Amino acid sequence: MEILSFGKVNESNLRRIVSATGQWVVDTNGNRYFDSMSGLWCVPLGYSQESIKVKMSEQLQMLPFYHNFFHTQTEVSYQLTKRFEQLFPENKWIYYSCSGSAANEIALKIALRYFEKTGRPKQNGFVYMQHSYHGTSLGVSQVSDQNMIKFTGARVSFPSWRCDVNEFNHQQTLKNLEDLLEQKRGEIAGLIIEPVIGAGGVIGFDKSFFSGLSDLRAKYGFKVILDEVVTGFGKTGSLFACNHLEFRADIVTLGKAMTNGYFPLAATLMSDELISETVRWFNHGYTFSSHPVGAAACLETLRLMESILPESQQVIGFFKDEIQKVSHSRLRHIRVQNCMGALVFDRGVSCTELEELAWLNGIIVRGGSGDPNVICFCLPITSSREEIVHFVSALQNILNQFKGDKK
Ligand SMILES: Cc1ncc(COP(=O)(O)O)c(C=O)c1O
Repeated sequence: MEILSFGKVNESNLRRIVSATGQWVVDTNGNRYFDSMSGLWCVPLGYSQESIKVKMSEQLQMLPFYHNFFHTQTEVSYQLTKRFEQLFPENKWIYYSCSGSAANEIALKIALRYFEKTGRPKQNGFVYMQHSYHGTSLGVSQVSDQNMIKFTGARVSFPSWRCDVNEFNHQQTLKNLEDLLEQKRGEIAGLIIEPVIGAGGVIGFDKSFFSGLSDLRAKYGFKVILDEVVTGFGKTGSLFACNHLEFRADIVTLGKAMTNGYFPLAATLMSDELISETVRWFNHGYTFSSHPVGAAACLETLRLMESILPESQQVIGFFKDEIQKVSHSRLRHIRVQNCMGALVFDRGVSCTELEELAWLNGIIVRGGSGDPNVICFCLPITSSREEIVHFVSALQNILNQFKGDKK
């Protein structure tokens, strides 16, 4: 039997990972790799956070499972909810799930229900940004700008429109958005957006963009779903990107690093307005929603992140300087958003070879996921200066081997 996963995996191209410490993972052949992708943007504190493991194992002893059906919830999920209430005072409701895709799926469903139940059923479409990635399940893949995950065979029951992004000119992106909103006036339930587009190539929006977005929301009356599945939990330098962007979303989705990747957990945080109008019509449930072990891991991850994040910013500053040193004849520019970054090559250059070269040189980067000519990385914020120097020199080494032929 073979594992079906993202792309084709078989014995010849399968690497089996057996252990990890700090920022390093080890495969069955004993090879060590510096994990410059933080897993999949989800292990920003590295693999050796013993206190998270201890909290998880204590929770396993006390209550290894209970669900949130029959009007119940676990005590530890209740405690976690109280923490989120302090962190997101505007979003009074939270729905726990197990993946970023599910968190976004719920967000779409809630927004659709809201407009349906407030007498505006024609307001049932979504705008999504160019390059964005919001998950692979049927609904959210329709609002992701990734051809490889769009399920083209299906007829999904809501319309969606893409907004073009100009990464160098946020006012232009706002203009594109306003044109679309004007054209589809009365048809748009929501806009789904990542504060920094992650898998699509680490493309950030700034505070002025989000201020303009607030104005557009007020003018056109749609809801904003802020997908912080990648950016949440420290990766932009704040605990959540919405903190430094000073943007209050109607719905915020979280996932990935909620437990530092040690347990599958995701969440959809929603405004009171949305829920008071829809809750009686919203029956949605997962067996593993609010899993107590995930909640225990998340509480400890939050505690650790709050203490480690401020002190990590010095080393991240060092990383931002170091990464500027890499060069290649076909490298067009380097994107950096705190610990996340991307190398953007000339159009037509294929980066899939770079990903493989990186493995062979003991580092992990993500090649050709959104745009084929881009590689991404997401440095664990617990990396040392020595590890950063190692990463940047290994990266330069693979760039020296990379011809960057146009394909
Ligand atoms: C921004 C963003 N949202 C949602 C998702 C989907 O999360 P998951 O893979 O946990 O379903 C991803 C996955 O990479 C993502 O990058």
